[in-house]
Amino acid sequence: MLEAIVDLACVGLAKIRKHAERTIWRWFEFFPVEDRASIVTLGEGYTPLIAPRRLAEALGLPRLLLKNDSALPTASLKDRSNAVGISRARELGFDTAAVISTGNAAASVAAYAAAAGLKSIVMVPAGTETSKIIQAAAYGAIVVVVEGSFDNEVARLYREALQEFAWYDCLSSNPYRNEGKKSYAYETLDQMDGAVPDWVIHPTAGGAGICAMWKGWGELQALGCTKKSPRLVAAQSAAAAPIVAAFENRLERVAPVAAKPTVAESIQVGNPAALGDRALAALRASKGAAVALSDEEILSAQSLLARRAGIFAEPAAAISVAAAKKLAETGTIQKDETVVCNITGHGLKQPSAVQVVNAALKPIAPTLDALEQRIRK
Ligand SMILES: Cc1ncc(COP(=O)(O)O)c(C=O)c1O
Repeated sequence: MLEAIVDLACVGLAKIRKHAERTIWRWFEFFPVEDRASIVTLGEGYTPLIAPRRLAEALGLPRLLLKNDSALPTASLKDRSNAVGISRARELGFDTAAVISTGNAAASVAAYAAAAGLKSIVMVPAGTETSKIIQAAAYGAIVVVVEGSFDNEVARLYREALQEFAWYDCLSSNPYRNEGKKSYAYETLDQMDGAVPDWVIHPTAGGAGICAMWKGWGELQALGCTKKSPRLVAAQSAAAAPIVAAFENRLERVAPVAAKPTVAESIQVGNPAALGDRALAALRASKGAAVALSDEEILSAQSLLARRAGIFAEPAAAISVAAAKKLAETGTIQKDETVVCNITGHGLKQPSAVQVVNAALKPIAPTLDALEQRIRK
């Protein structure tokens, strides 16, 4: 698998510090885009890094931080990668961008393609939440819903289509787009005024985020901006946890599993392909961890995050909070350690995951009596 390598000797840190912009492009020199004029941006990056006091109390982790990527332009972490990937597509002269997706990448590719003036074709497995399909279609993508699972039928058709048509591949096999998620490392260090968190927990599907963060922290170390890197944690749904299985069983390589249904739809990937092995190596090199969470634990974290921190995340994104809770309970994470949970997608992406009591949807008569009755219920 190809990988983009930035020549760190050419990266002028003094220059970066002078860039005032609060987007990932402050770190332009770290990305494989040749010319600033090629940049396609929707203002992505520098998402809020907040200290959620009430949630921290509930988890018994006073130094908990949340990096809220649901605030990105299309409401998921995918904008970090597609801003870079689509900028490069424009530089290379492609006219059509394509991706297969559990929903978030589809919307993100579609949005950046629209901004760049490229066509986009996105394929999603049958059963993908309608709101995600609507979002991609709204940006003008051709959305193709394919019968079968993401790992098997959809992936096979996509590979065949890439052979047939000259599309720009926006999947994680594209080495340019993966570089975008390195921005997590740069921003976190910057937003923490040069301090390094003890742990960073990332909702994990194919492992692209873990690989990119590890690479980003490595670059910062090589440049002397920091002496250490955080310990990285991959949080996966127990229904699709091949990286966790390989980590726990001390395997060298990740073996694909058959993904089962889960509320964490966006990370329901059983076959992480090439990046899975790299992610596994990154977790080990960072002295990190890998945790599988049940749907019950994920939904409970989603509710805790919304009700105690005011952040409505989709289940796949709230899983980092579920992992923090579990690792604190088992003593892997100590009370005095700083933990950053990446919150990678907005709750409105998957509204069906939230149980709304029927009474809440039923209109009341416009009287104080009816209002009082409704409140008491
Ligand atoms: C909400 C959400 N979180 C996290 C991820 C992370 O996936 P990866 O392990 O490929 O970085 C995804 C990818 O589909 C996602 O949609």
